[in-house]
Amino acid sequence: MSYPYQIKTLEGYKSDYQKSVEDPEEFWGNIAESFTWQKKWDKVLDWNFKEPSIKWFQGGKLNITENCLDRHLEKNGNTPAIIWESNDPDEHHRVLTYKELHFKVVQFANVLKNNGVKKGDRVCVYMGMIPELAIATLACARIGAVHSVIFGGFSAQAIADRLEDAKSEFIITCDGAYRGAKDIPLKSVIDDALVGNHTIKKVIVCTRTRTPVSMIKGRDVWWEDEIKKVETHGNPDCPAEMMDAEDILFILYTSGSTGKPKGVVHTVAGYMIWANYTFVNVFQYQQGQIHFCTADIGWITGHSYILYGPLSAGGTSLIFEGVPTWPDAGRFWDVVDKFKVNILYTAPTAIRSLMGFGLEYVNGKDLSSLKVLGSVGEPINEEAWHWFHKNIGKEKCPIVDTWWQTETGGVMISNIADVTPSKPSFATLPLPGIQPCLVDENGVEIEGNNVSGNLCIKFPWPGIIRTTYNDHERCRQTYFSTYENKYFTGDGCSRDEIGNYRITGRVDDVLNVSGHRIGTAEVENAINMHAGVIESAVVGYPHDIKGQGIYAYVIYDGSHGDANLSKQDIIQTVSRIIGPIAKPDKIQFVPGLPKTRSGKIMRRILRKIAEGDTSNLGDTSTLLDPSLVDIIKEGRI
Ligand code: PRX
Repeated sequence: MSYPYQIKTLEGYKSDYQKSVEDPEEFWGNIAESFTWQKKWDKVLDWNFKEPSIKWFQGGKLNITENCLDRHLEKNGNTPAIIWESNDPDEHHRVLTYKELHFKVVQFANVLKNNGVKKGDRVCVYMGMIPELAIATLACARIGAVHSVIFGGFSAQAIADRLEDAKSEFIITCDGAYRGAKDIPLKSVIDDALVGNHTIKKVIVCTRTRTPVSMIKGRDVWWEDEIKKVETHGNPDCPAEMMDAEDILFILYTSGSTGKPKGVVHTVAGYMIWANYTFVNVFQYQQGQIHFCTADIGWITGHSYILYGPLSAGGTSLIFEGVPTWPDAGRFWDVVDKFKVNILYTAPTAIRSLMGFGLEYVNGKDLSSLKVLGSVGEPINEEAWHWFHKNIGKEKCPIVDTWWQTETGGVMISNIADVTPSKPSFATLPLPGIQPCLVDENGVEIEGNNVSGNLCIKFPWPGIIRTTYNDHERCRQTYFSTYENKYFTGDGCSRDEIGNYRITGRVDDVLNVSGHRIGTAEVENAINMHAGVIESAVVGYPHDIKGQGIYAYVIYDGSHGDANLSKQDIIQTVSRIIGPIAKPDKIQFVPGLPKTRSGKIMRRILRKIAEGDTSNLGDTSTLLDPSLVDIIKEGRI
């Protein structure tokens, strides 16, 4: 497959960028011609950021699976679409060619239909990283059902909230999932999520770990049994549902500054084109290369750069079930060596963690197949950047530092491998179609270079969030109301003397822990559920490996005894309500929280104390009880 829109030179980048700004409709209309449509669009773009209402390729009809599967069959049917490496290095890996993946997707799409799933229905997918996860999501897309993939680390309560918000009636899960030495009982978590639920009609359970599960009559069915029911001897058929360009493809929940995660909605055509365009360009993907994105499909990175980006490009995507440190800290490098991986896309947290184990796990592994390295999810510090560049890329692979968000669908600001220059810890330049700007607290745009401010985007791109599921007003408020006529990212950012962007981190109450977004309000709500807790305030602090750690100040009714045990109980509560990823790293019991006379918690002070920077806490005179600050300072952990 060729990619006529692949940028090849720095001049090419500059001229494409220029075209994308001067005539976006012409620019994206041309690119869209390279895809398979059942009916061509009438209008490339119709938008306003006020409502917001953003429509790309209106009137166009298509199905993303025809673009990800069917169109590759004739020429590339025998090309591996998915290579799967097990958690267990001794278990045989699996390869699914485009023909095989197509076969399985179509087959499972028929299973979904047989079980009553229809176009527009929301299907929750809660599975481990096995090929069946890719098959399940693509099968939903095949019949026009909306997938809502939930990361395997979320708790029963978090799942229940998401099921309710999305009004899902169907779940696809596994008996369990392997992650390193752990075996996570996914079906049993689903069972807990479904206690008292009367809206779920069917739960389809795929076998992976053979963990004992309780199958409820009339509701729960085995994947393997259902497949037998639709098995045909020839090629199964399931025509791709004709979708409007702006029909919903998926919902993906992400945390914000309020307590309740929101369902980010992406639609079929714009998302597909954006995932494909950014994949082909940022990584400079060449047909036949093996792309290894280490994210979980439960996050946007997995959606865009394990599934839809690589598959729409006819590429080969490696799915790894395990974790980087099991059975030892050389696991990523073993996988690269075993499959001769060409592109490795991972998170700074993983790099920092592996750095800590030393080079003995890298030495002796053949990493010479690597051509491009990528970083995503959080700022990459210079030390990690250089370690990655030197020891993994052997100083010959460009590192693309890709800044983007669940809401943006794909990479927004990044260097382009071997095409535009990199600069350690800078995401560098916007991709064609992206018009970033920095604004001050009054919403005034900050022009020129060597400046910093809040990062906004001035013009829509095909992969932009369309709405938050069931609550359009929330979408407007969160992203489009802070600054008029701009999409607000929630990130702080600086621009250097030649216009390179450097993301400095969130400016709202959202933490980025190991590259995962977690709202402080969400963690506070969970902590406050614990019977002994009166009130809490959560802030982030710098953490050597995770980027940010979670620091919780808790007013606790200590009459029940041992403080350490109580802290363990609180951690357990957070695990139950959200999941282990949101567990506080530090809990400090405090007699009160620093509040203004109007009752607002002064988080700035709590943040400074958590960071260990207590020399200058600023003006504390507006506090209701300034003496609390000294007590909290003294009790710092
Ligand atoms: O703060 C930015 C940070 O991650 C946030 C988005 O998180 P999420 O929606 O979970 O998506 C993560 C994967 C795309 C952003 O608001 N972030 C993401 N990439 C970078 C980054 N911060 C600095 N540099 C990056 N390359």
